[in-house]
Amino acid sequence: MRSAQLSIVVPTYKERGNVAELVRRLDLALAGIAWEAIFVDDNSPDGTGDAVKAIGAADMRVRCIRRVGRRGLAGACIEGMLSSSAPYVAVIDADLQHDEKVLPAMLAKLESGSADLVTGSRYVEGGSAASFSGKRGAISRLATRLTHHLVGTDLSDPMSGFFMMRRDRLDAIAPRLSPVGFKILLDIAATSGERLRIAEQPYEFGERFDGESKFNAQVGVEFLGLLLAKMTGDLVDPRFIFFAIVGTLGLAVHLIVLKLCLAFLPAQPDLFQIAQIAATLVAMTSNFLLNNELTYRDRRLKGFGALRGFFLFCLIGSVGALANVDLASWLYTNREVWWLAGAAGAIMGALWNYAMSTLFVWRAR
Ligand code: GDD
Ligand code: MN
Repeated sequence: MRSAQLSIVVPTYKERGNVAELVRRLDLALAGIAWEAIFVDDNSPDGTGDAVKAIGAADMRVRCIRRVGRRGLAGACIEGMLSSSAPYVAVIDADLQHDEKVLPAMLAKLESGSADLVTGSRYVEGGSAASFSGKRGAISRLATRLTHHLVGTDLSDPMSGFFMMRRDRLDAIAPRLSPVGFKILLDIAATSGERLRIAEQPYEFGERFDGESKFNAQVGVEFLGLLLAKMTGDLVDPRFIFFAIVGTLGLAVHLIVLKLCLAFLPAQPDLFQIAQIAATLVAMTSNFLLNNELTYRDRRLKGFGALRGFFLFCLIGSVGALANVDLASWLYTNREVWWLAGAAGAIMGALWNYAMSTLFVWRAR
């Protein structure tokens, strides 16, 4: 039997009600093309995997990779594409929001040899994202603009989860892709760089057929992390970048509270000391809360765990501050360059706080 020319990778999480309809539509749209569908299901509790396997039992072109103990759209897409031995691979959502009818046109562009990657685009002539709610549409457009500025890709719709590419191009960069978050296409484009020839295929983004969207604040944070990591050429862990941003904000909070206390508290001999303590407490609290919401959102602490974490965070911060002052003073007595000593102390304190917070406050499960 002829092996597949095109593998369609479909990441799924709780999409039971969509898979049969998607296979039916793929079959119609891809008549005459040797295709296969690879569903990558993250052990959906609604039995999506079983639904796919039931279809696969009667149709050799359909199979399911069931991943256990892992979650994530990008990682699922990468694993699905890597399991293919077809020359071309596509990624499409299971919920029928992407228009499967444009797949043959995308394949033709690749087969003609003029492009290595064809992206489905909602934002070029002929495409549309009318089904997006006002808020989701605004987020999507803002994210698109951010990527242009920060990563320098000139895709019209870098947020798209709908694309097709040569498998050899994917194989070449796979080890450098991030399994986190939703933005697989952006990651592929940014990682491949200039060498990748990209074409665009307009399509109309439709309504979800069944079930609900998995987009949430966590996905937004992961997206920001991916952008930041790409900006530093993947040298710095996005988690550390968030930690550093929160720390810098904390310094601003500290200075503002200090100023307010000095201006409004009644004059007394140890006013500065009181104000400094108040500023430290407020800054520690805001740092903890922001880190809990942003930096460690995937490990967010709640209830009693958050209280325990907060005390631990303060303890770690105090030790970090002592070490910071110690190192800075030692450097200053030896070198007498005030800014070098100060900066070295601060950096060393930040690294300590980050390492200890990651190890003990927001432990990996
Ligand atoms: N395996 C797996 N694991 N699949 C997932 C996961 C996961 O953790 N999270 C989501 N999916 C699957 C869904 O089941 C669906 O098939 C597809 O990924 C897209 O998820 P949706 O929840 O439907 O996302 P959306 O419609 O809000 O977002 C779409 O538009 C974005 C553009 O703004 C997607 O196409 C995104 O890829 C796209 O970036
Ligand atoms: Mn969707």
